[in-house]
Amino acid sequence: MNAAWIESDTMYTENDEALTPYEESIARIVLAKLTNNWERRAQVKKHELNASALFDDSKDDFLPDLLPFKDHPAFMEAPEKMKRKVLSCGWLAYNEKTIDIESKIVGPACTHVIYREVPGLQDGVSIQIASQTLVDEAYHISLVTKACQETRSRRELFSIVLPESHLITKMRECQQQCSERWQMTLVQLATAIVSEVFISDYLNLLSNEMSIQPFNRMTVDAHKRDELSHSSIFKSLTKCLYTALGMKEREFFMDVLPRPVHWFANMELEVWSAMLQQIGFPKTETVINDCRSLNEANLARIDFSGLIALATDLGILDTRRGLDSFAREGLMSR
Ligand SMILES: [Fe+2]
Ligand SMILES: [Fe+2]
Repeated sequence: MNAAWIESDTMYTENDEALTPYEESIARIVLAKLTNNWERRAQVKKHELNASALFDDSKDDFLPDLLPFKDHPAFMEAPEKMKRKVLSCGWLAYNEKTIDIESKIVGPACTHVIYREVPGLQDGVSIQIASQTLVDEAYHISLVTKACQETRSRRELFSIVLPESHLITKMRECQQQCSERWQMTLVQLATAIVSEVFISDYLNLLSNEMSIQPFNRMTVDAHKRDELSHSSIFKSLTKCLYTALGMKEREFFMDVLPRPVHWFANMELEVWSAMLQQIGFPKTETVINDCRSLNEANLARIDFSGLIALATDLGILDTRRGLDSFAREGLMSR
């Protein structure tokens, strides 16, 4: 596939002033600057963390506040040893979701850019920054995989198997409903954009948390430093992409952009159910069933203001269709 999706006579007209050529050129300057300072900013260029020196056996691996069932009586009453094992599982799930994001969402999105399949992103700077980002994400997979291996061997969780995260399952379901290849690509890109706008916050939850395992905290902190740049990269790439879309592609993008917010915010109860069963947690079924109703109203747990700001910059929220799309997903009132 190439970027011949766009026919010149279908260019978008509802809101021609949404993103001016000046604003697009600013986005391209940001991308050029970030490409040029990759050598300095990328954590992939820095030293590796020393697990033997940093691992503190006495500290918990994860924050109880991030468990969907932290106040459930079955968890509160569990023996201390079981609670610590559940927290170690929380750390594994947090990391495995990160690996899913890097390898199944962001990596393929970068590959679409590298193969010049994305309108507005076929220039040298866009291709260069997509390839640098792909290297960053490959390094993050290595960083996070190492952290998981340390936890699995030190906490005797080596054989735990986690199912794929809800985020990936939902993105694939959405792609399967597409009738055209370009729509599948835009679903991939929209999921990557939302993930890259959110992931710094997701990593922030642990990177400053001094009460948890220092090795875990420093792993998350190293990752977060790269992701702060990635957030700017993906916002700028989105501006260049959106400007180049034709009318029907732009309308499809407006419809799909807010959807991954729900997928990202999901409590991942299937993953939790599998982990709790495997470690022999008592009353797993009751705990998971009791959490299901909370999962319905999970948007309050995440800050999606970054995505609203991006949609505002793009002019999406100046259009009826864009407003309806964001309202349909509960991200704003009509
Ligand atoms: Fe990453
Ligand atoms: Fe990233």
